[in-house]
Amino acid sequence: MGPSPFLKEGTAPCIYKTMWTKKNLQALTQEKMGDYRFVVASNRQPYVHSFSRGKKIGWQRGVGGVISALDPVMQACQGLWVAYGNGDADQKVTSKDGKVKVPPDKPSYLLKRVWLNKEEEMGYYYGYSNEVLWPLCHMAFKRPVFRQEDWEYYKRVNEKFAKAIVEEINGKKAFVWIQDYHLCLLAKYLKQLAPYQIITAHFWHIPWPSYEVFRICPQKKEILEGLLCNDLLGFHTRYHCNNFLDVIDRELESKIDRERESVVKNEHETLIRSYPISVDYQGIQTMSESSEVKAFQDALVEEFQLSGLRVLVGLDRIDYTKGIPERLLAIDRLLEKHPELREQVVFLQIGVVTRLHLTPYKDLNDEINALVEQINWKHSTPGWKPIIFVRRHFSLIELLALYRISEAGIVSSLHDGMNLVAKEYVASRTDGKGMLVLSQFTGAARELTDAVLINPFDKEQFSDGLYMALSLAEEERNKRMTKMREILQNNNIYRWAGKIISELLKFEFAE
Ligand code: F6P
Repeated sequence: MGPSPFLKEGTAPCIYKTMWTKKNLQALTQEKMGDYRFVVASNRQPYVHSFSRGKKIGWQRGVGGVISALDPVMQACQGLWVAYGNGDADQKVTSKDGKVKVPPDKPSYLLKRVWLNKEEEMGYYYGYSNEVLWPLCHMAFKRPVFRQEDWEYYKRVNEKFAKAIVEEINGKKAFVWIQDYHLCLLAKYLKQLAPYQIITAHFWHIPWPSYEVFRICPQKKEILEGLLCNDLLGFHTRYHCNNFLDVIDRELESKIDRERESVVKNEHETLIRSYPISVDYQGIQTMSESSEVKAFQDALVEEFQLSGLRVLVGLDRIDYTKGIPERLLAIDRLLEKHPELREQVVFLQIGVVTRLHLTPYKDLNDEINALVEQINWKHSTPGWKPIIFVRRHFSLIELLALYRISEAGIVSSLHDGMNLVAKEYVASRTDGKGMLVLSQFTGAARELTDAVLINPFDKEQFSDGLYMALSLAEEERNKRMTKMREILQNNNIYRWAGKIISELLKFEFAE
């Protein structure tokens, strides 16, 4: 690895003190980025092209926290996003070197797709990323599955991303912003390939576990050393930063500077910082009040026959960390304790199918089907059943409509880095109505303390929380929602990105 970049004095932009908006993030990147390239790298791509019926090519925005957070940022900053092209029509719409302008309906930045074969996808994505790092970092009591061959694919794909980026940078200097747990070794490979040209930040979108958990990982040293090749490493919360520093302290020979919040290893310093991720508050607010969203609200009420019912909603990838069975059981308990709510309340859950090649995900799907069937059978009356479970893709506009028809939104993750559904829900309720029922084990619970906080493992307390959300007086509900909305207005996605990019811009390229 090349020499460490060092911090320039006095280059912090002065917009720290003002409210961050799309415009001032744009101004920051235009003014300070100069001729440097700005690259974002993630596994998941922001837009997927696929063949729909009749061989027509359609597209969709990707799913997940990384996409909801970074797509608006990239639309503002207009850099290059490098990601795995997983759509079956992706190759049809890209240039020879894998590039396409996105969003497809409003092109504003470049997406470069990295192609993976089936073995690479299996070993790197399903295997090491989602059978090792995902369960290892989430306290959801799933045992990680370590396979040497998955680790080999993981390294190979990280190297592939590095080569794709260096090829794009083409001799120029660049700031590379790496996302998530799929690319732990990317900074290391980038700096081996182009030691004087690249400054990197890595944002870790999921929790960082305690030492007791992390130490079982056979590749722990390589992972840690890879992450410490970054100049800046970000987590959602201070708690995750402290867990990371604790792991470093016990596993690697290095110097931890608690005052500067940094780690020095082999004369290279990595700053460790917390940046709670958020949503495009203003964008969501404007969109939520549009006539399009209103039309979708009416369509949802019609499609699911919700007229006259008090609606609870949930929206998640069908993942064992999201506490979906726990949520269904809390609904069941709510109806046991409050039979008067029968024929009044309905729970509409949208589930996005994910990672189905892995057994725990298939099993979870089966478990959910069985629970929905069982609970509906137990409580239903002619013409009414308590749970509607829908597995299909919802666009952002449809999601906002879904949030707005509800009396409460439920987020019951067993463990979650942040959870942007919770923040989207609050941002969408410009009417001051609705209520958020939120797991205390999400990063979001640290900011949104006016939500009804629940412990998803405790069915009694969870069902009482649901009852409380349904029973809050209008004034109290309004007061809580207003407070949460004020927090998000300030801590929006442009602030998150602006703070990370400002920190990145303080580094100087090594000579
Ligand atoms: O929220 C955590 C996260 O890893 C996101 O960063 C990611 O986009 C999301 O989960 C979805 O996972 P996947 O990309 O495997 O569908």
